[in-house]
Amino acid sequence: MSLSDYAARMALHFRPVEPRDHAVTREIVDAAFTPEDVAGFLDALRAAGCLIGEWLAEDESGVVGHIGFSRAHLERSDGERLPAAFLTPLGVRPERQRQGVGLALMRHALDRLEQGGENLYFVIGHATYYPKVGFRTVAFDEVASPWTGSPAFMMRCAFAPRGRLLAPPVIRDAH
Ligand SMILES: CC(C)(COP(=O)(O)OP(=O)(O)OC[C@H]1O[C@@H](n2cnc3c(N)ncnc32)[C@H](O)[C@@H]1OP(=O)(O)O)[C@@H](O)C(=O)NCCC(=O)NCCS
Repeated sequence: MSLSDYAARMALHFRPVEPRDHAVTREIVDAAFTPEDVAGFLDALRAAGCLIGEWLAEDESGVVGHIGFSRAHLERSDGERLPAAFLTPLGVRPERQRQGVGLALMRHALDRLEQGGENLYFVIGHATYYPKVGFRTVAFDEVASPWTGSPAFMMRCAFAPRGRLLAPPVIRDAH
């Protein structure tokens, strides 16, 4: 079964986060990540104005997943800064995990960001999960960052970027 069939079967739909959703997204993130305080991290991203996009996945039971992207930049050796979108956090309600929600939500969010002109993405996460939506581990000679060399540090782009990652301090300090 394809993911879109799966999403249709589960009657999943997606929408951008609005301020009135902040409490429920906090609850989802808490449930997905406990005992890690990722809800506090999300609050810090929001307070620092880092986020460029946040979406929810909902079904008939309510909100089941949340994803956020923050503005980062890739600074090239000539000083030019390319905008990038840093994926963090992504959380799915524990009872709805491993049913395709996370991948469907990521695909939706990446489509929307691409429509808005984004073409370079970074994530730090499960090295066997994010390649399912086009991420790959960053090579040593590509992007300098505190995480380069870890298989968990991945990017998604259709070109071959070289440079130094400038990530928001909230993300740098949390990872
Ligand atoms: C990680 C997470 C977002 C994935 O969402 P999900 O809806 O459970 O995942 P999906 O059902 O879309 O995943 C489908 C595929 O990814 C795999 N997958 C799911 N979670 C995975 C994980 N943590 N590590 C590796 N692979 C994973 C599944 O096995 C499945 O693969 P398959 O189709 O080959 O069997 C979710 O499990 C979660 O919220 N976990 C706790 C918080 C967390 O770790 N967030 C990510 C931080 S990097």
